[in-house]
Amino acid sequence: MIHKSIQDVLNTQINLEQYSAQLYLAMSAHCETKSFRGFAHWLRMQAQEETAHAMKLVAFVLDRGGRLELKSIDAPPTEFGSITQVFEKILEHEQRITTSINALFERSRQEKDYASEITLQWYVTEQVEEEANVGQILDQLRAVGEKGGGIWYLDSKMGKRGKS
Ligand code: FEO
Repeated sequence: MIHKSIQDVLNTQINLEQYSAQLYLAMSAHCETKSFRGFAHWLRMQAQEETAHAMKLVAFVLDRGGRLELKSIDAPPTEFGSITQVFEKILEHEQRITTSINALFERSRQEKDYASEITLQWYVTEQVEEEANVGQILDQLRAVGEKGGGIWYLDSKMGKRGKS
């Protein structure tokens, strides 16, 4: 049986992952309205990935005999500015998620909840990858700027995610 305090923070993390999916879907729509269909595609896939992150935690809570307590998901903004600003916001958001995952991991250690600790290890590693990927895209966006043809090349590259 899962400890109540761990169950509560896992339920909060599920909500955070679901909010991430909402946020990225809203960002995808924002990019699409600017005709950046590649960035929009990448973000839509990212939204699906966030839903998968939430589902993995849902399965874990239930497998441990815990209680799933779903909460309301906050509405994301609808305006995000330039593409570079979109990715700056994504990086900030992922850094917040990393802080939250690390706190959860620490809490599992304090409670000697080894099963949670092992499950959360996957999320710790995933966050390293998430931040690295977004940081790299941001570097590329800053290098090409948004005025020339470079951004359209990046857009076509982003559109290939999951297709090769
Ligand atoms: Fe599930 Fe991007 O953190």
